[in-house]
Amino acid sequence: MQNHKRPPSSLIFIFGGSGDLNLRKLTPALYNLFLDEWMPEKFGIVGIGRSDYNDDNYRTHLFEGIKKFSRRSGQENGNWKEFSEHISYLQMDAEDETAYNKISDLVKEKEAVFGEHPNVIFYLAVAPQLVPDIAAKLGSLNICADTKYTRIVIEKPFGHDLQSARELNHLLSTMFDEDQIFRIDHYLGKETVQNILALRFANALFEPIWNRNYIENVQITAAETVGSENRGAYYEKSGALRDMVQNHMLQLMCMIAMEAPVSFEANEIRNKKVDVLNAIRKIDHNSVQDYAVRGQYAEGWMKGEKVPGYRQEKNVNPESDVETFAAVKFYIDNWRWQDVPFYVRTGKRMRNKSSIITLQFRPAPSFAFPSEAAATWRPNRLTISIQPEMDIRIRFQAKRPGQDMILSPVDMIFNYDEAYDEHQPEAYETLLLDVMEGNATLFMRGDQVEAAWKLIMPILEAWDARKPVDFPNYAPDSWGPEDAEALIARDGFNWITLPPPHEEDEEVKK
Ligand code: BG6
Repeated sequence: MQNHKRPPSSLIFIFGGSGDLNLRKLTPALYNLFLDEWMPEKFGIVGIGRSDYNDDNYRTHLFEGIKKFSRRSGQENGNWKEFSEHISYLQMDAEDETAYNKISDLVKEKEAVFGEHPNVIFYLAVAPQLVPDIAAKLGSLNICADTKYTRIVIEKPFGHDLQSARELNHLLSTMFDEDQIFRIDHYLGKETVQNILALRFANALFEPIWNRNYIENVQITAAETVGSENRGAYYEKSGALRDMVQNHMLQLMCMIAMEAPVSFEANEIRNKKVDVLNAIRKIDHNSVQDYAVRGQYAEGWMKGEKVPGYRQEKNVNPESDVETFAAVKFYIDNWRWQDVPFYVRTGKRMRNKSSIITLQFRPAPSFAFPSEAAATWRPNRLTISIQPEMDIRIRFQAKRPGQDMILSPVDMIFNYDEAYDEHQPEAYETLLLDVMEGNATLFMRGDQVEAAWKLIMPILEAWDARKPVDFPNYAPDSWGPEDAEALIARDGFNWITLPPPHEEDEEVKK
């Protein structure tokens, strides 16, 4: 996270070059960086895969992805030809050790064309189980010993549990320096997530009340309307806890709960986040049911359309016990947050796509207004909408116009689209630019990943040991299972949900 200038020459190898992530996210992001003049003067992109492509039809395939998935999909894409000349395809079996020489040869070739040694970036956009093997094979190339120029980017999930994450960290550490390893959590590249640091630490207003004396509870929701889509095979091994909570949700929690950094240096920010993870109270195996709730969606209707249950999805076991919803209550044992519950929930096939963070403040200490004035009183709230709405809103009480003293809550809203004309770069644009620049601030360090796994292991183990008896237990187009309501209602709170924008407009009109 720093102000950018064009990064140095870079050669990017994408393992999984014919795969979905590259088609939907990576190539569109690199192309947008190119259009916005953020790509290096000299660069090359090499897609690596087993599928049978030549450079020409590979480029055509990627252009289809641009037309469908780029944030500029509806716009003129006149520079594609120029950009695509930087792309080539290397057909290779990543399991075949001898094939890796082709990579070294290509680096030499490009070096000659560029007239200098470029950054060499290996992006592993492959199934998690292939990562250790590819990393080990890359590690045997001389080029990986070049700690200044060579980098490896690893997609989440990083490992499958604490043990495998440790093993992968260990394996990588035998071949790469920590500074060369970029573990991606794409949530950290989102504009609205980066803005949490600006909100908290560039304003004197919030920090004095950002603690247990004023905040009653914090809620983090990441709800999706999609089901497992064509990712059933992956999701069966993952589930909501591994897929979203271990990484994205805990990272959001760190951004909200961390102490002020002394500088924006990568390790300083990451140290502050690890402090949060280390302070989160470990959930005891025997009380997991008091802190965590799981769910799985049934078949049903979504916005007028019939949708299958999780167990009927492609590549999913018809008796699957995998959770598609998880809600967890965490506590952070430190001076700032002691006894403030952090409620985290995520799920597929939920009512709306909505990722929001809400800080609910304690009630005013004394209430002098007549009781009828307070009938519609609500606590103050600060809500950060990460997506699809991108805004920050503060709710406070106001007097309703009229001769009577009646209070009602109102929202003061800062909305990105209204406030700025600039486009919002996609998370992957920010993160790929950071990799080319060698800036690891928004990436997970090895100890962060392990600390996050430690926190969720007791839940994973308890859930593995006790099969769910009520799956599927929530309908599509809902907010998840009833038990999730109970989890928070027991403490006297309820989940906060923002109405979708059109409903909100209706409410305002009323
Ligand atoms: C990914 C998960 O990391 O994040 C997916 O693997 C999930 O299951 C996705 O759908 C959500 O990302 P976003 O940016 O759409 O919130």
